[in-house]
Amino acid sequence: MVTQYLFGVPVETFAVTAEVPKGTELPYFSQEKGMTFTCALGAEDIVYGLGETMRGINKRGGRYISFNYDDHNHRDDMPSMYGAHNFIVVDGEQTFGAFFDTPAKVVFDVDSDGSGQLSVACESSDLRLYIVEGRGAYDIVRQFLGIIGRSFLPPLWAFGYGQSRWGYKTAREVSRVADKYREAGIPLDYICLDIDYMDRYIDFTVNRRRFPKMAEYTAGMLERGLHLVPIVDAGVKIEPGNAVYEEGVQNGYFCKNRDGRDFQAEVWPGMTHFPDFMQEKARAWFGGHYQFYTGLGLEGFWNDMNEPAIFSTEYRKKDAPPDADRGDPDQPDRHIADFKDFFHRLDDGRHISNYKVHNLYGAMMTRASGEGLSKLLDRRYLLFSRSSYIGAHRYGGIWTGDNASTWKMLRQNVYHMPSLNMCGFLYSGADTGGFGGNASRELLLRWLAVSVFTPLMRNHSAIGTRKQECYRFRNTEDFKTIISLRYRLLPYLYSEYMKAALRQDMLIRPLAFDYPDDKKAREIEDQLMIGESIMIAPILEPGVKGRIVYLPEPMTEVRYNREGFTCMDVGAGERTAMAPLNTVVFYIRQGRLVPVGEPVSNTAEMDLLDVELLGSGTVYEQYVDDGYTKACSLERCVLQRREQAEG
Ligand code: GLC
Repeated sequence: MVTQYLFGVPVETFAVTAEVPKGTELPYFSQEKGMTFTCALGAEDIVYGLGETMRGINKRGGRYISFNYDDHNHRDDMPSMYGAHNFIVVDGEQTFGAFFDTPAKVVFDVDSDGSGQLSVACESSDLRLYIVEGRGAYDIVRQFLGIIGRSFLPPLWAFGYGQSRWGYKTAREVSRVADKYREAGIPLDYICLDIDYMDRYIDFTVNRRRFPKMAEYTAGMLERGLHLVPIVDAGVKIEPGNAVYEEGVQNGYFCKNRDGRDFQAEVWPGMTHFPDFMQEKARAWFGGHYQFYTGLGLEGFWNDMNEPAIFSTEYRKKDAPPDADRGDPDQPDRHIADFKDFFHRLDDGRHISNYKVHNLYGAMMTRASGEGLSKLLDRRYLLFSRSSYIGAHRYGGIWTGDNASTWKMLRQNVYHMPSLNMCGFLYSGADTGGFGGNASRELLLRWLAVSVFTPLMRNHSAIGTRKQECYRFRNTEDFKTIISLRYRLLPYLYSEYMKAALRQDMLIRPLAFDYPDDKKAREIEDQLMIGESIMIAPILEPGVKGRIVYLPEPMTEVRYNREGFTCMDVGAGERTAMAPLNTVVFYIRQGRLVPVGEPVSNTAEMDLLDVELLGSGTVYEQYVDDGYTKACSLERCVLQRREQAEG
């Protein structure tokens, strides 16, 4: 049961799509000091949710601030990341969910001082608070997913492996990446084009000297089964002659400064204006410009710098020190000041500072692009964004931003996945191998073994770091093995993604959601459930050859290496699973099945129905389609039956 509690006159966030009945007396929380909501937690209570935040799956012990923020230094105590996902579930003495639907700053203190108190401080007094009640944490999450609308449905090729790097400067360099993957026999479905494909980092342009004949180039790549995925940044370069800039100025589609002039901020292209994505017309205009790309045959995009990221403004020079008088211990002052310096015009005519609706900016950019692409293409598109708010999951996925090549970040990737799923973001993943810093061969192989199970599987790294394409490392056969596992599992992974999205359910869950009565399973954070059949227990440490795995029930242990799959039934309880770097071990639940396909070099070669069934079950309901149709429904499921073993 979901109930809505209304405070003031909230700005429309578009997060909730269902009609939710209104209540009058707010349960579970007491309201203190204006808009601070508090609640006492039981000693053993677990608190789930909060999507893209640091720390583990159980958010208890931390302090998290929803205020979308571009900072690549993902410290343990970093309060804000790129997204604002204000949904929590308290699971314990009292079990309920709460979604604080406000685009302004919210501080979640989840018992950070050990006093046993959960406190949620909302900066705005205009708020919709949704309380979800149900039969346990998983049921509560499903009800929440039920009111926020169906997840984005990417095409099949978006589930392939993608290579990316900031620094690919020419078409020739990109072709070389494709060639090298092919030579190494490593499957690949797409290559991302970072800012260097553009003419001086101007959106909706291609640098014709470095990427000549782009339409032909895109078509040629597609013939090889490869998609190109360009980046699109939020800021529009201020430059007479740049049509997008001129149209935006003429139509009032840009955010304004205090004097009513178009606000200026420096990002990659130099000084830019920020599209006012809060205006419906501005969204339609910006989304319509993706026609530039679709006209070139492009169908996948990553939207970036949309917190929005700001290097300097007309009021604050780049290296200006933070203003000490405006101290806020949780955020560098200059960002607070920047976001107070520019304004949106809401469709109801109100003018409002970005600071007050800050967390919606990236989400509204995703919405603009998603709506535009839906009109422009007769097939499904790929879209993932850096910044987000709940609701954006209906238009695109997200990646978790500028992580680093460290084992800690790999572990964080594992923690992020279920938390993001709880908030609607099924299509997500991290920069595999790490964005900043230098990835070792070992780290990349172990990271790939995790990314095999995340919908977005993209290797991305920053300019100036060690080059991280798989073929650059010794013995590429090992990389081929791990990435080919992804492709062999795609009949299952694609099917489970589509079923989860169509049923408004989670794809990636903590063990506690499937085994709520198992005390040990409730505490485990480094193993995950992937769809209805698989449990993973990845290796997240350097220098080890195996790990201890906890099995809440007997399962089939599947070992995949260059020889293929080997299955073994194993009992419940703890066991040690050895996995050399070129091997992935995962588990299939008792009585369940996993359909696996033949090795392929990209999704265009795949036959989703040509499968072999692994596991001890008898029937598997497999979602199958052509990989791009917009008409997706559960009616596209077929039943795969295991032949009855004799005897
Ligand atoms: C941002 C993005 C990163 C990208 C870089 C250059 O840091 O998060 O993925 O490579 O900008 O565009």
